[in-house]
Amino acid sequence: MTEAMHKSAPAGSFRQPVNVRLAEDGLSVRILDQTQLPNRTVYLDLSLPEQQYEAIEKLRVRGAPAIGIFAAMAYAVAAARSKQAETAELLAELAQFSNYLNRSRPTAVNLSWALNRMHTFATDRQALSKSQLLRQIRQEAERIQQEDIAMCRAIAQFGLSLLHEGDTVLTHCNAGPLATSLYGTALGPVLLAKEKRLDLKVFADETRPLLQGARLTAYELQQAGVDVTLICDDMAGLVMKQGLIQACLVGCDRVAANGDAANKIGTSQVAVLANYYHIPFYVLGPGSTIDMNCPDGDHIVIEERSGEEIRSLYYQEPMAPQGIKFYNPAFDVTDHSLITAIVTEKGIIRPPFKQELARWFS
Ligand code: MRU
Repeated sequence: MTEAMHKSAPAGSFRQPVNVRLAEDGLSVRILDQTQLPNRTVYLDLSLPEQQYEAIEKLRVRGAPAIGIFAAMAYAVAAARSKQAETAELLAELAQFSNYLNRSRPTAVNLSWALNRMHTFATDRQALSKSQLLRQIRQEAERIQQEDIAMCRAIAQFGLSLLHEGDTVLTHCNAGPLATSLYGTALGPVLLAKEKRLDLKVFADETRPLLQGARLTAYELQQAGVDVTLICDDMAGLVMKQGLIQACLVGCDRVAANGDAANKIGTSQVAVLANYYHIPFYVLGPGSTIDMNCPDGDHIVIEERSGEEIRSLYYQEPMAPQGIKFYNPAFDVTDHSLITAIVTEKGIIRPPFKQELARWFS
């Protein structure tokens, strides 16, 4: 599909994000609780730091860009709720808040990126009156969401230019609107194609253990009317061998300066399989996910989560013996040598990634 076709996209086709929103009075952030999907649509209003920390930690709000947007809005809420009259004390309190929230999950760089951006923004404006400062902090948080919408749209356009009408793509985890603002990253090209009435089909890996593929990707794509087929993670190799997949599209939580890309556990297996079957493997993500301070994948901290997620969560009864040892890393790193291209809002970046990422993002 060509770039020219993208330019004819209907204007104003954006809907409003539903996953993360700042309350009218600025005193809480409203999220769609992703742990309850697809069976229940539950919104939560989170005003306290402990609630916000828990929401990130428990994946009520999840997906690297959405975590960043949420953190920025939580920062604005903390500022609005602060009792400090003096700006210096307000900023000290916000620095403490940022450090606290930043510890909720380690792998997605968007969390620290958004908190740093908010705190630098506030510090640079400390000469303003408190009410002006609070207003601008709120605007900055909302700007991060608006920018994400524009970035996802651009990523979707670039991503779509890599595909052909009738293609079936395989995706892992959930990198759709729920994980971002609108469109998503890996699902962006698919949703944009739908908008343009172009035919693309999707195979979605269920994504053990937290089932983001089954619960969220299958749900979002079905809602959007996209032809989506759910498979277990261990079926990806077979569908590739059967010739059913023309491209793999995945999101990312942190891309190192050499192109190594951290994403949901299991992504690197998909990349190895895709490489074996000569299927292009694309990583899609906004510039805020590229961490030029991180030299390579070995420097990316991989979150480890509770064994209960493997043993019993989402089962009616535990599916492993009581007391079994567990290991539950939530992410893995796909070696840059397995990645065909990294698609960002700035364009399609191809190897050699170290040189190209430095050229685009230094
Ligand atoms: O643990 P999660 O559900 O937050 O992991 C999410 C992913 O790995 C996504 O693929 C990634 O954040 C990209 S979201 C556009």
